[in-house]
This record gives sequence, structure tokens and C-alpha cells, in this order.
Amino acid sequence: MAKARAVLQRHGEAIDVHQDDFKEEHAEETLDESADPLEESGRTVDTSDEEIDENVADEIARFEGSFVGIDKRYRIINRVGEGTFSTVYKAEDLEYNSFENRWDVDERERRKWQSPASRSKRARRPHYVAIKKIYVTSSPIRIFNELELLHDLKNSNSVCPLITAFRHQDQVVAVLPYFQHQDFRDYYRDMKISEMRIYMKSLLTALRAVHLKKILHRDVKPTNFLYNPQAARGVLVDFGLAEREGTDWHRCNCTLEPEDRRRLINHSFYAQNQQAGHQTTSYPKNDTRNSRRANRAGTRGFRAPEVLLKCTQQTTIIDMWSAGVVLLTLLTRRFPFFHSADDIDALLEIATIFGRKKMKETALLHGQVFETNIPSYSENGHSLEKIILWCTGRTGEKQGPKKELEEEEKEAVAFLYRLLECDPNKRITADEALRHPFIAKAHEDSEADDDMVDLVEV
Ligand SMILES: Nc1ncnc2c1ncn2[C@@H]1O[C@H](COP(=O)(O)OP(=O)(O)O)[C@@H](O)[C@H]1O
Ligand SMILES: [Mg+2]
Repeated sequence: MAKARAVLQRHGEAIDVHQDDFKEEHAEETLDESADPLEESGRTVDTSDEEIDENVADEIARFEGSFVGIDKRYRIINRVGEGTFSTVYKAEDLEYNSFENRWDVDERERRKWQSPASRSKRARRPHYVAIKKIYVTSSPIRIFNELELLHDLKNSNSVCPLITAFRHQDQVVAVLPYFQHQDFRDYYRDMKISEMRIYMKSLLTALRAVHLKKILHRDVKPTNFLYNPQAARGVLVDFGLAEREGTDWHRCNCTLEPEDRRRLINHSFYAQNQQAGHQTTSYPKNDTRNSRRANRAGTRGFRAPEVLLKCTQQTTIIDMWSAGVVLLTLLTRRFPFFHSADDIDALLEIATIFGRKKMKETALLHGQVFETNIPSYSENGHSLEKIILWCTGRTGEKQGPKKELEEEEKEAVAFLYRLLECDPNKRITADEALRHPFIAKAHEDSEADDDMVDLVEV
């Protein structure tokens, strides 16, 4: 088994880049989108003796047969996830005791509470890893990018660290600590507000660490945030679409001072057209302007407006919108909340909530024009409070008392507005979000829980 060329040392520091492996034409591939959240599966298989589906057993046997030497290092147990770009297996690390395992947070925790006597007895306990078999159709640049960014983030808590990676012929596998989690679909309908706070705090902690390194995750969604409700702990995975901020930037109007932007808009073809009294926007017959290109990778329904509007200077703040969609999902108990067929559909879905006026302003911010002749879109949209009430069946009778959100829900909505802010310049950052009263209260909640535990113990 050959070690992959990118990050291939177990705990190695150096990254060996072979630039000539990467051809220019692959750059286009980064525009691919990730799958529909419903098409992905992600479920922790907790017991190693659980029945394995016959097809999965065959698949594992084929993988072990083709990836020479993998079975000497790992005992593959079951398939635990299938994403857009990979299949993930749970496996036992057979060489655990031959290496230092700084990545093993669970073992560190366990040892902390062990008596020195039992610590010295080298218990032969199985240690699990997740083997991410990246589809061979992925471009080398994408695979390298994922491994390199994971390597950069190896010391960030709440990001699932890369242990090592291997290559055999065209097949690359990434080895990560196995993180026990529960499928989002099993708990999103029943989460209490206090639990949402803790979930969001955990997600935002991961995002702060990623953003501090000036990395955009680009695909924040429940299947890429593995959460264990019992331990109230989660880790961010899947850096397959992640990128460094500033990659391929071209100036976008959104970064201009407001007066400069207004001046540009006032002199635009669009504004002249409007001044000439045309009711609807017209388009030049021979448009000589260059077509606009921007990275729009991500998952439908979770993309920020600036991604849909092809902003050419996207920043880490795009992930905060996606985090907002996750919170909206939790509060409305609807998953997936947005379900669009394409980018235009996605913009219209956002317009349904925020209204035409806000969408026009948002588009102009990035030098684009938003127009729709669909009469049902209102000018000012609907409040998030109203949407949550509708989605949770609290519409109330026309004559009856007006239904209202609970106090705690109102706090959550105030925070949600800061995440689902259409202007990226005004959207809350991960660092600020962790200091927002809604999230800061998570600490109080967990302290209250600790107090309860103390009372029981006394
Ligand atoms: N470290 C891990 N521990 C346990 N399960 C994992 C781990 N990493 C990934 N998975 C499972 O595999 C699924 C796909 O992994 P992901 O990295 O998102 O791949 P893809 O790029 O194909 O979407 C995840 O949604 C999750 O269910
Ligand atoms: Mg994924």
C-alpha cells in the first residue's frame, strides 16, 4: 500500500505537494454541488456485532481486496455513511498501540478518570476510526485540498482531525477518529430550546476555529456536523468543498464603501433603463459583458444569498448563513427547510421570506438585478416569527386569541435574524455569535444541569 502523496505521515508535519499532479481543467470541478440533504445517509452504527447488510459486506470485501494492505492496519466493521463524494466505514485500528494517538480525545478523557493501577494495565480495548473512501472520480486537487485543510485544522477542537491518509493506485482514503453521533433526523423534531443552544454553541465553536484560520467550510449542514446529543458534543466534518478565503477573488461591489456603490449603481445600464421610464428591465441584444463566474459549491437550501448571486469575494461569513438555516430547521421542525431545484429557485425561496425589496437590495449589493413577475411574492415578506408559528401549526383561529412564540423562542428568533442576514457585511460572525445572549445562556443551562447532578449525588 503506497502512502498518498499529499498528507501521508501518521502525525507528519510536512505536506508534500506535487503541483504537477493538478491540471488546470480540474479547477472547473470545484463548482460541483454537494448532494441534496435527503439523499445522504449518516447513521452511527454503535455495536460492532450488529448484522451487516449482505451488500455492504460484499462491498467491504471488494474494498479490502483491492486496497492492498488495508486489512493489516484496520478491521473494517460496517458502512456508516454515504456522502456525495465518499463512502465512510467504521473500522478498528489494529495498529493503535504502535503509535502515539494524540487525536484520541475519548481515550484521554477515559484515562483521566482511571486509577493509576488500571491505567498501567494496557487494556486491549478496541479503538475505532472512520475510514473515508473518497470516490476515485474526485479530482486530485479536490482530494489534496480536503486533506491539506484538515491537516491545518488538526489542533482545532470540534473539527474532526485527520489521523492519516493512504493511497493505493487511484484510491485515496482519509482516516479520522470515529465520532459517535446520532442521525439529525432522529432528534431535530424534539429538541428543546435549551438543547438547541448547546447544539448551536458546539457548531459555532467549530466554525470559529475554522474561520480563525481563514477557511470557508462551504458545506455546513446537519450531515456534516456529527452531533452526539447525550454528550452534547459535536464535530464538524467534510472539508471536501472547503477553501481558503481569498482564493480566486475578483472585486465585488459588496466590498465598496456604500457611497461608491451607490454611484456605480446610479450609472449602471439598469439605472438608466429605469430612469427612461421602462417598467420592466430590458436586456441588451448584444451583451458584451463578461459572464460572471464564482464558486457556488455547497448544498442546495444552505447556500447564502451572496453565493447564489455569484459574489466574487465570498468570505467565511457564508457559513454563518448555513448555520442560520440549521437553526431555522430546528425551530420550524422542518427538514430540509428549503428545497429548491436550482439557484434561481433557491433565491425565490429566500425571497418568499424576506420579500422582493430585500432581495433587490441584496442583489444590487453584488452588482446584480433581482426581478420577478410572480405576483405572490410580497414586497416585504414575512417575519421569521410568523413562519415558525405556521410551520409548527400555531396559526390560531381567525377569531381566537393570537398565537405567540414562547419567550425562549423569541430569544432564538432574535439570534436567527443575525444569522439569516442577507447582507454579508452585517451578518454576525462566529466569534460574535458565541457572545450573543442566546448562545451565552448555553453556559448557564449546562451549569444548571450540573447543579441538578450535584443535588442528586449529595
Ligand atoms: N469521523 C466520523 N465518525 C463517524 N462517522 C463519520 C465520520 N466522518 C464521516 N462520517 C459519516 O459519513 C458521512 C459522510 O462523510 P463526509 O465526510 O460528509 O463525506 P462526503 O464528502 O461524501 O459528504 C457523514 O455524514 C457521517 O455520517
Ligand atoms: Mg458530507
